[in-house]
Amino acid sequence: CVSGQQIRIDTGAGEYKISKHIYGHFAEHLGRCIYDGFYIGEDNTAIPNTNGVRNDIVEALKALKIPNLRWPGGCFADTYHWKDGIGPREERPTIVNRWWGGVTEDNSFGTHDFLDMCELLETEPYLAGNMGSGTVQELIDWVQYTNHEGKSPMADLRRENGRETPWNVKFWGIGNEAWGCGGNMTPEYYADEYRKYATFLTGWSNEAGISRIASGASSDDYKWTEVLMKNIKHNLIEGMALHHYAVIEWNNKGPAATFDEGQYFSTMKSALHMEELVTRHSAIMDKYDPENKIALVVDEWGGWYEVEPGTNPGFLYQQNTMRDAMIAGTTLNIFNNHARRVKMANLAQTVNVLQAVVLTEREKMILTPTYHVMKMYNVHQDATLIPVTFDNVDYTYQGEKLPALSVSASRNADGVVHVSLVNIDASRKHTVSLNVEGKRPKNVEGTILAASKLQDHNTFESPDTVRPGPFKAFKAGKEQLEVELPPFSVVVLELK
Ligand code: AHR
Repeated sequence: CVSGQQIRIDTGAGEYKISKHIYGHFAEHLGRCIYDGFYIGEDNTAIPNTNGVRNDIVEALKALKIPNLRWPGGCFADTYHWKDGIGPREERPTIVNRWWGGVTEDNSFGTHDFLDMCELLETEPYLAGNMGSGTVQELIDWVQYTNHEGKSPMADLRRENGRETPWNVKFWGIGNEAWGCGGNMTPEYYADEYRKYATFLTGWSNEAGISRIASGASSDDYKWTEVLMKNIKHNLIEGMALHHYAVIEWNNKGPAATFDEGQYFSTMKSALHMEELVTRHSAIMDKYDPENKIALVVDEWGGWYEVEPGTNPGFLYQQNTMRDAMIAGTTLNIFNNHARRVKMANLAQTVNVLQAVVLTEREKMILTPTYHVMKMYNVHQDATLIPVTFDNVDYTYQGEKLPALSVSASRNADGVVHVSLVNIDASRKHTVSLNVEGKRPKNVEGTILAASKLQDHNTFESPDTVRPGPFKAFKAGKEQLEVELPPFSVVVLELK
């Protein structure tokens, strides 16, 4: 045991709000995320559902308080023509999902199904528009279809299809990964195209307050952000995206559940790289937008491994272990601490794909370790970020070092303070001293997610192997709180 890392926290300090949208999710037409995931069809009598959407998933995600859901992609978005997914199901054309497994989809889950599902989930939709193979007209028609209240060709079509009132979708992505699957564009070319789409999307005034989000950089492609910030007029953009996955190597991603410590270390190195990425992309944005009007939107993040043996390689189905809990806990702390610029983020992906929070198998559904971390952390949503300072301690593996500890803190509207702490060290516990300045807490409670092995995960046979429990390993002194963090654990403390 290494003891005594000092964490200083002034409970009265803080000027930025942690946007709840940092806790957003992403659902693509990919593998078993939508079809045979969220959506099982209205005729399914074996699994309780509402208009074909699984009730158990809706309940689980409501408990998570998911603030927004991005759809329909991903790479899929730049092949998707929304008009194919409205009207009577039997008349809808099929679509070949060219990026993900080459499967033919019947378009039975379309705009109404998604937006109605968002209402069930009590979450805000984030629609990713098709720039790669679509048109400006197609995208602005989609906005009119979903958002126009009065009489108009698209609003009338919506009413014909059974929906009187608009859904008022606020978040709109303009293309996805335009540097890759979205069209292999240069940043200069994309910026020009973006300006055209963004102009027609809102018209003169953007009275509706739509958030237009530009397809952003891949990891450390700082030039992409620089060119977009320079070439796009700032009255045309509300959000700049960024994608970064925690991956060992793209051609050697390693197994999701049977990894060794070396693979764990490499994954965490890639996950913790998010700190540098948001710092440097934010610095570029600060240069062009010193008033901090444009949000950094990390609309794809998470761990990416080899698919589970025997599953379709194009479906990206992977298990979710304590390693994923470490990725989630540290990444969300990074986003919280960068709340000034990072105002939205979307974990990839919600159900049955990549770092999912929910996995399903026929009628069964399980919650993953990542789900539990996101639930423990939802106390930070829309709370005031409290800056935290501390000297870190190393997690060493074969001579290489990573910071072992990750911390963020916030104060909610009732003055309750939450501190989320992660120890990623694979074998050593660390004791930290929380020096609380400001109002002294009278009552401290905690929750912990820990396990006996890093590879521990939940299965359909054993759904509660990893689950949170009460945390008692702290001692309240006069000036400070001594907290003992077991190896690879996530702790959230509540100070009242
Ligand atoms: O999340 C899976 C894929 O990863 C998305 O479709 C794409 O945007 C990214 O490359």
